[in-house]
Amino acid sequence: MKIGRFFWITCMSLTLGLTQASAGQTAGTSTPDIAKGQPWMNAALDPDRRADLVLHEMTLDEKIQMVHGTGWGVLRPGEPIAPGHNLGAGYTPGIPRLNLPGINLADSAVGIRMAAMQSRYATLLPSVTGLAASWDPSAAYLYGSVIGRELRAQGFNMSIGGGVDLIREPRNGRNFEYASEDPILAGTMVGQLALGVQSNHVMGDIKHYALNDQETGRNTLNAVLDLRAMRETDLLAFQIAIEMAHPAGVMCSYNRVNGDFSCENDYLLNKVLKHDWGFKGWVLSDWDGTHSTVKAALAGLDMEQPSGTYFGAPLKDAVQSGKVPATRLDDMVHRILRSMFATGVVDAPPLRSVVDPFRGRDDAQKIEEESIVLLQNKGGILPLSPGQAHSIAVIGAHADFGVLSGGGSAQVDAPGGTPGGSEWGKPVYFPSSPLRYIKEQAGSDAAITFDSGADPAKAARVAANAQVAIVFVQQWMTEGQDSATLSLPDNQDALVAAVAAANANTIVVLETGGPVSMPWSSQVKGILEAWYPGIGGAQALANVLFGRVNVSGKLPVTFPAHDSDLPHPHIAGLTEHTANNGMNAANSNQQEQPGNFTVDYNVEGMKVGYRWFQSKDTQPLFPFGFGLSYTNFSYSNLHADPNAKSVTFTLQNTGTRLGDEIAEVYVTLPNAAEEHFRKLVAWQRVSLAPGASKTVTIPLDPLYLSIYSTADDGWHRIAGKYGIEVGSSLSSLPLHESLNLGSQ
Ligand code: BGC
Repeated sequence: MKIGRFFWITCMSLTLGLTQASAGQTAGTSTPDIAKGQPWMNAALDPDRRADLVLHEMTLDEKIQMVHGTGWGVLRPGEPIAPGHNLGAGYTPGIPRLNLPGINLADSAVGIRMAAMQSRYATLLPSVTGLAASWDPSAAYLYGSVIGRELRAQGFNMSIGGGVDLIREPRNGRNFEYASEDPILAGTMVGQLALGVQSNHVMGDIKHYALNDQETGRNTLNAVLDLRAMRETDLLAFQIAIEMAHPAGVMCSYNRVNGDFSCENDYLLNKVLKHDWGFKGWVLSDWDGTHSTVKAALAGLDMEQPSGTYFGAPLKDAVQSGKVPATRLDDMVHRILRSMFATGVVDAPPLRSVVDPFRGRDDAQKIEEESIVLLQNKGGILPLSPGQAHSIAVIGAHADFGVLSGGGSAQVDAPGGTPGGSEWGKPVYFPSSPLRYIKEQAGSDAAITFDSGADPAKAARVAANAQVAIVFVQQWMTEGQDSATLSLPDNQDALVAAVAAANANTIVVLETGGPVSMPWSSQVKGILEAWYPGIGGAQALANVLFGRVNVSGKLPVTFPAHDSDLPHPHIAGLTEHTANNGMNAANSNQQEQPGNFTVDYNVEGMKVGYRWFQSKDTQPLFPFGFGLSYTNFSYSNLHADPNAKSVTFTLQNTGTRLGDEIAEVYVTLPNAAEEHFRKLVAWQRVSLAPGASKTVTIPLDPLYLSIYSTADDGWHRIAGKYGIEVGSSLSSLPLHESLNLGSQ
């Protein structure tokens, strides 16, 4: 009897312990395997062909085993753990006799989750929203490659990060895992991220498909949105990311969409994802997001996670009784197998090694340095000059210790532990101390004091004695709950107001999951949005505060002034009982979900985020695309290609510092499109020395100038006058031109 390599590894894992076992792993494809009658091990063959060859050899039981997980494992203490499980969020066993490895899935939205349990280390990257604020696709690729590199080193072969839900609801608890309110920015950045993951022979994933745009009631709510708006907004983000990255998996979400649960939604899975977008990978359910066997299987779900409640024995019965055609089961398995071959997890399985924390930190810092957004800089208070800021009061948000991270399944464990530990429902700080790096850069002569900010009056007294006050404020966000309001929690608005009243040189640094309101904005000189900054966050922040790095991020989301300006002033389904806007969420029960209710996204429809503010003519606190620099840029000479293939313009750095500008291109469609707002269609990040100028040409994707017609179920460019505008943000578009275009 042939004993496959993966069976051997599994046994060795159990005997030797996981960290030693993989020393025996070797590359998967070998001539003897091919010679022994396993032609699918021939890496020269096309992945679909390889999948067909091995599928042909599989028994019904083996096929069923491949389409579900082995249970909650480490996620629920006391649950059994299957042999071969790498102690991540999920596991589907392999088939050793066929040389097929198991699939070990790890949550890894902003870095790998649950490393501490095995004394492993994982890099905490900035939040995905922070990444999107860089508007830098190469930073997104780097971000994904850090995740892929570390997953591979830890023995995982699949990431289940890749959140690309639109930031439709700015108070959504998981926005820090998502990129933007704009579908093109979100799809592009997350697509690049998934490419970076897969570049390490680790399978990538895009989630949560679709319209999982709030956490309140996520297991039951029915998100309602008309098909055109859905295709042009939330689904467009998924389409871009999926077509760009060809991820192995797409995770369907917990909620219902237009009546059906996402994981048994024929329109979303069969029609849009698999038919229209030609997705070749597999659909896996969010954890316990499967609700049926036959309906889900026929609607396009390919794998149940984390268990086999519906896709274990019940699916076998359904196939045997003909309720689910055997060809449909084959299709599920084919999709899984072809993805394993295509990404290289069969030919180049994970190779265990020690994660390099320094390389991870440097990468995280580099990304954060591009992600910080300067929202206000009155009197040019920033950057601080080391010789001049003789005394600085650093206040609030545990800035003496570290930086905040987001909670839930995206939680990364902090090196050295953190006050509170990595318990679900508690904020985790990473030991990247802003105070330490501010001290380092301010120089040894400077007097730097710290105050916790717990008592605004005391903090104000400390601030009054310093030349400059830097107040750190924070908004902890987590999976399973939304923030009831845009306001900062825990009396921090009063803290900032008190400090600002005591010190005219007050700078606020925000560590938030997304947009927050700032009633004190006119009272302070400087405002920096640092998001959740990651393990290199403090160094990045100090570099920006003291001007070693020129700040360059721009908002990927609108910052509204008030909750009442939003399409949904209150979060649907959020009652007093479920609301929790404080840092200590221990009293809120994330499992508790209100009953069935509808979230009517037709209120805003395709007018998500900045489009809503334009159409209502409401001034946000800070507009989409906005961010200042320590230098200035000027725009001139716009030329749009008559067939709208590209736009060309001149960009000049008119200031005195080297800087990166994110040049943004917006389009207004002809009136007949009935979309009376500008939308982002392209951008480019350009680095310019002081005084230098550059002719910038940015290609335009015809899809982004098109509308989705439900009448004939397709995208069209309609004939008429198109407005093209270019500039530094939605609120500053100095260049414009119009084009008369025919239909396409
Ligand atoms: C989350 C997913 C996550 C899964 C496994 C679910 O609660 O919604 O994003 O991947 O758990 O941890």
